Amino acid sequence: MTTASSLPGGGFQLGDQTVSRVGFGAMQLAGPGVFGPPADRAEAIAVLRTAVELGVNHIDTADFYGPHITNEIIREALAPYPDDLCIVTKVGAVRDSSGGWVLARTPADLRQQVHDNLKRLGVDQVDLYLVHWPQGGAMRAWPGMERARERGLTRSIGVSNYSARQLDEVIGSGTVPPVIDQVQFSAVSHRRGLLEAARKHGVVLESYSSLGTGKHLDDPTVAGIAERMGKTPAQVLLRWCVQHGLPVIPKSTHRERIAENADIFSFTLPDEDMFALNALDETGGTHEANESTWW
Ligand SMILES: NC(=O)c1ccc[n+]([C@@H]2O[C@H](COP(=O)([O-])OP(=O)(O)OC[C@H]3O[C@@H](n4cnc5c(N)ncnc54)[C@H](OP(=O)(O)O)[C@@H]3O)[C@@H](O)[C@H]2O)c1
Repeated sequence: MTTASSLPGGGFQLGDQTVSRVGFGAMQLAGPGVFGPPADRAEAIAVLRTAVELGVNHIDTADFYGPHITNEIIREALAPYPDDLCIVTKVGAVRDSSGGWVLARTPADLRQQVHDNLKRLGVDQVDLYLVHWPQGGAMRAWPGMERARERGLTRSIGVSNYSARQLDEVIGSGTVPPVIDQVQFSAVSHRRGLLEAARKHGVVLESYSSLGTGKHLDDPTVAGIAERMGKTPAQVLLRWCVQHGLPVIPKSTHRERIAENADIFSFTLPDEDMFALNALDETGGTHEANESTWW
């Protein structure tokens, strides 16, 4: 059995589960454009099994990835699921016939998506549903997701891509706060105000695209820190996130990289490196790179 101390980086609380700070983002296990099947389904299955063998017990998915394909691969790879595995999936969108992403948030849409996820993952209860994207009536969707939770169809509910103001709004619109807000948050794209709002509300802020979708691994600042510390650029960028208190869900289709991405807890980035990485922000964020309270 996995214990909190054997999880990479120790565990953190996600709803009523203790999960690894490094999760696995399964989005691109589907084909190009997150649409259709992957070129190598057997390898996608092997990647997922490798992640779980390494103690990564927190997997991010959605039935609109593929669509359906990512959930089907997760089921094939991992069912019957280990007791401590937390599968985080999403509602609020579907795909059209050419792969376009379409908001779908009426009560009937949400009911359908909840049941589609349960069916494709092969479970009676999902661990965590996220309401994906804040626009298009998402606030009205929240009470429906609370009912799904009360009916036992999910253990917990959260949101994806909400700003500080939208977190306030969703918390005001329901009786249960989201346990998590999954957002794009990395050294090149971060928002101090959102981090502070999430902390204030007790909402876990989880980083996706922590590696800048892979585009920032060659950045000279990142590469320089990595070389000096004897780590890889991916490890430096992921470590930056966890030192800010954010769990991460990096994606990789390479098994050896799963191990590399989980191995970020044996070193600490010193203040000067954190400040140098903070300064890579491309979003015009409001933080001061040298402000010691920021990080
Ligand atoms: N809620 C949302 O709106 C949302 C949006 C986007 C993503 N997500 C979730 O977040 C997950 C990750 O996000 P992401 O894919 O956008 O970005 P990411 O994790 O920042 O970057 C993934 C890229 O980095 C490469 N990579 C991973 N580990 C590496 C390593 N150790 N060395 C070198 N390259 C490495 C991968 O390539 P290889 O595969 O070739 O290794 C891939 O191209 C997704 O799978 C999805 O589950 C959620």
